[in-house]
Amino acid sequence: MKGNITLTLIKPYAVKNGYVGPILARINEASFRIIAMKYIKLTRCQAEEFYAIHKGKNFYKKLVVFMSDGPLVVALLEKENAVESYRKLIGATDPKVAAEGTLRKLFGASVEMNAVHGSDSDENAIREANFFFSEMERFHEC
Ligand code: CMP
Repeated sequence: MKGNITLTLIKPYAVKNGYVGPILARINEASFRIIAMKYIKLTRCQAEEFYAIHKGKNFYKKLVVFMSDGPLVVALLEKENAVESYRKLIGATDPKVAAEGTLRKLFGASVEMNAVHGSDSDENAIREANFFFSEMERFHEC
């Protein structure tokens, strides 16, 4: 069964350029429910840990610098088949090849400055959600 959560980051580049509102509006329009959200600046160490999966790749150091460059928005999103559905909404990693109307096409500048992150698997969605949010910080119906 497909999971129903995914984690997104609205990256420092997008925050700096005033894209938080327009990106959140599109997330709402696409029927994702925000179940947790924070506005924080990552330390270098936190950015290294979050992207540890890419350690050793040629873009890793630049990615860590870019992601700890300023505040970002992190949100936990809920929807049926959330990972796949959100990856459709954000489009390809490189804005140049992302489909028209996707978040990375609309708001990204380059593969490094691609505006948003979205989890790439259910397993990583859970790992990333646990990285940023405690159970107490997540909205639950009671
Ligand atoms: P994101 O979804 O945040 O996950 C890893 C990030 O690495 C990716 O988006 C890109 O912003 C960044 N990145 C930088 N260079 C590359 C590259 N050549 N290929 C893939 N991802 C890259």
